[in-house]
Amino acid sequence: MTATRGDGRRRATVAERARELADCAEAAAACTRCDLYRRATQTVFGEGRAGAKVLLVGEQPGDREDIEGQPFVGPAGGLLEAALESAGIARRDAYVTNAVKHFKFEERGKRRIHKKPSTSEIQACHTWLEQEVRLVRPRVVVCLGATAARAVLGRPVTLHSVRDQILDGPDDLPVVVTIHPAAALRAPDSKARAQLRARLADDLVLAAGVARSGRGAGTAAGAP
Ligand code: URA
Repeated sequence: MTATRGDGRRRATVAERARELADCAEAAAACTRCDLYRRATQTVFGEGRAGAKVLLVGEQPGDREDIEGQPFVGPAGGLLEAALESAGIARRDAYVTNAVKHFKFEERGKRRIHKKPSTSEIQACHTWLEQEVRLVRPRVVVCLGATAARAVLGRPVTLHSVRDQILDGPDDLPVVVTIHPAAALRAPDSKARAQLRARLADDLVLAAGVARSGRGAGTAAGAP
């Protein structure tokens, strides 16, 4: 049976969306929509399959990601992987990407230090994120940190104000906002690091529940 949308048009199959996603990655590899491509090694597009249940959005590739061309392969990625595992989210059910697809940095000696992307850089890159969300068509979007939340929701939010909420996102998808895993790495002491790791894991448990039950947007976590 062919699925149709509300407007009567045929819904693209997962295979068709996967092909379009691959085309999109190829187009993004040549992206010059902002100046970040000039200094970065390469575009780091999202990774995962069309139809993945959970789509995770980070900020931008870091030094390792820029070199390897894959999102979340550095230390923050290790922490994210452990949190996903503890929340029972299989890697194959997750599509991982970033709000901005090129590494922005400043040089300090031999080191390249991460620099926060500007609003205009986030906006310039938004077309890729929009297409990834449309083509992956996940059951829930997870924003890792405030930059991701801004890109996905189209407005600035504080992490505190949206804590434990299931928000209304693009394509009517539920959105959960949590901390960026790098925040747990940077925390000043082991107690703070453990608390932030636990928060990330708890929020991913919430997202996994939404992916399973398809709970609607606007619901506070724990509400009946
Ligand atoms: N931090 C991010 O936000 N994204 C990555 O891919 C790596 C580190």
